[in-house]
Amino acid sequence: MWQALEPTASPDWRLDETGYDQARESDIESRFTVANGFIGVRAARSISRSPMWLSWTHTVSSGSWPRTYVAGLFDIPDIDPPVPVLMPAADWLRVQIHLNDNALQLRTGELILQRRTLDLRRGMMIKEWHHRDPAGILVRIRTMRMVSQADRAIGLQLLRLEVEPAGVDVRFEAFFDQALMGLDQETIEADLAVWSTQDTGKRLAMAGAAGMLVDDRPLTPAEHDHLQWRWRYRTSGDGAAEFYRFVAIGRGDSAHADPAGAAQAALIRASSVGWRAVVAAHEDAWMARWAASDVEIEGDAAATQALRFAVYHLIGSANPDDPHVSIGARGLTGDGYLGHVFWDTEIYALPFFTYTWPEAARALLMYRFHTLAGARAKAAQAGWQGAMYAWESADTGAETTPDFLNGADGKPVAVLCGAQEQHITADVAYAVWQYWQVTGDRAFLLDAGAEILLETARFWASRIVSEADGRGHIRGVIGPDEYHETIDDNAYTNWMARWTIQRALDLPALLGRHWPNLATRLAITDAELARWAAAAASVVTGDRAGPVMAQFEGFFALEDIDISQYDGRAVAMADVLGRERMQRSMVSKQADIVALLGLLPEAFNAADQRANFDYYAPKCAHDSSLSRVMHALVAARLGDSALALRYFRDSAAIDLTDSAGGSAGGVHIATLGGLWQVAVLGFAGLQVLADGIALTPRLPPEWPGMRFSTQWQGRHLKVRITGDTSEVILLRGAAMHVTLCGKPHWLTPGGRVSA
Ligand code: BGC
Repeated sequence: MWQALEPTASPDWRLDETGYDQARESDIESRFTVANGFIGVRAARSISRSPMWLSWTHTVSSGSWPRTYVAGLFDIPDIDPPVPVLMPAADWLRVQIHLNDNALQLRTGELILQRRTLDLRRGMMIKEWHHRDPAGILVRIRTMRMVSQADRAIGLQLLRLEVEPAGVDVRFEAFFDQALMGLDQETIEADLAVWSTQDTGKRLAMAGAAGMLVDDRPLTPAEHDHLQWRWRYRTSGDGAAEFYRFVAIGRGDSAHADPAGAAQAALIRASSVGWRAVVAAHEDAWMARWAASDVEIEGDAAATQALRFAVYHLIGSANPDDPHVSIGARGLTGDGYLGHVFWDTEIYALPFFTYTWPEAARALLMYRFHTLAGARAKAAQAGWQGAMYAWESADTGAETTPDFLNGADGKPVAVLCGAQEQHITADVAYAVWQYWQVTGDRAFLLDAGAEILLETARFWASRIVSEADGRGHIRGVIGPDEYHETIDDNAYTNWMARWTIQRALDLPALLGRHWPNLATRLAITDAELARWAAAAASVVTGDRAGPVMAQFEGFFALEDIDISQYDGRAVAMADVLGRERMQRSMVSKQADIVALLGLLPEAFNAADQRANFDYYAPKCAHDSSLSRVMHALVAARLGDSALALRYFRDSAAIDLTDSAGGSAGGVHIATLGGLWQVAVLGFAGLQVLADGIALTPRLPPEWPGMRFSTQWQGRHLKVRITGDTSEVILLRGAAMHVTLCGKPHWLTPGGRVSA
């Protein structure tokens, strides 16, 4: 067991936290989560924890928040406003140890060593704890937890316990903790329990198996029932006890589904091969993922660690085998935003998947296909056509943004995003198109992607209203900058709406003989297409006198506040200025026009990009974790590598050091996806062209080189950049074009090009 409990030695591949500081527990727990896109387990202590804990969401922000999440397990608890919540499963890792009948506790006796290591390479959390109890008994414990990347229904916990001196009576209890789950228990047997959700009738099954060796000999449990095991033994002095526990989880999406069968089958798969084989398969699966997705920065170990940390959590948040779930804003690492899905997935996280794990990207987009019904209903309800995606989405695609939240003073504040933050509908279409461009997955386009593009274009065409000035307007929205509500003609929204319609209009030619069927099924006539084209041609896109676009109508008349005078502030600008003054000012919460430059770089020449970036960047408060990565991407493309690197580092700190104080609710998946984009799409300048890829590196001097993997239309490529020189190797797939610094090259299978 010792080998499995030994973390990867290389500091580039691990995160370490030593000591114990209760005030930092909840953000460390998020950061050190293990997840596989189906199960997510926060890094809370499993041993020596009382049954009560404190939640970051409630009165105290410093407590531990042990949680195991199951992707897609949403229920609507009896709360106000009634929105779906990602429900926790049972905490399957609990252990209690008694030494001569005294409970081993962290808070009594002497803490000698505590170290948690997140092994990024092997996808594991390993913990070492040395403690002397008040009676002078010394314990050394090493634990490991993982959820399998090879077989997503399975989790494993290993524990090795050494106790000194000889002759100590040990009582070792392992159990599943159900406190505060909020699910109704249907059955519990020795190795299996089944629960159901109260409102939506979903079901959850968890099966468990555990075993123990003491001094290398199997020990039979003294008691075993209800997913609890109890062993007793007397220590021999220099020996050790070794414990393993499997969990196997099944989710049932309706009251008739049988999750117990799935959980039991998974448990049999794991138990029949044993934990060593489960670990080996998991490690192999992670190796394959790293081979496809690793990014390494030469000369900047901190940047490599930040990118690997980002890639680790991105991989842990996705599941290529489940097209009915997507990634919540905090993945499966915390309760923040209740597990809801935002544009974070399509705009910030998806490029990583599209370029390095297209199977996962496809599943994420299929979630949007499967939630089209909800989007159609939302559009119809508001009096528009086509499909309007929910700003916050859970399992059905219905709008799940709460109508109000309690403000700092405890009074309810209306949340208008659910009704007004409509750019999400263009963001989904954008992601579909980008996936199609990068992967060339025609089957996806035919089966699902085209329908998403057409229904979202149909929505936008109905949403653009032609007015007396002869132009099309989109009134009453919120753009990415949520500090300004009920605004008209947000440039980001209008540009992206027009872009969506234009891509939909490309489809008839693109789909050829498949077009008539699809058009008939969706009742799209030539007359309707002509109306879409007219709407796209008429829509206002950031009226401007010079190169600088207006973020929305009336923007240039707002108060221009120098936010640099508030540098170092501990609170959001909204709290500094107050809601009303902020809304009357130019201060933005996050990248808005800058996000538009990030998404459609080809739509603006370099001078216009520069002018808009220089105008808007100083007005941005970066009060969202999504903001700096977008600024970094644009700055990197503009060649301002010093500024881009500053934004990159500040963004990396958001979860690595909890610099913004928000990691307790989970890591910020959008920021992590953004970091990958800054490195690969920004500094390396990766771009997709009609017949291949292009690289235009603009590395900062602090990064003498970088390496990464990417895919393009079924080809697997390895890229190495040194200074201004790029080298590309075609590992798998047919010959293709690679354009390096503007010059096309022909790359043959197994070959390499460099320039
Ligand atoms: C940001 C949104 C984001 C959401 C979830 C909000 O604070 O303004 O852009 O989608 O958080 O991360």
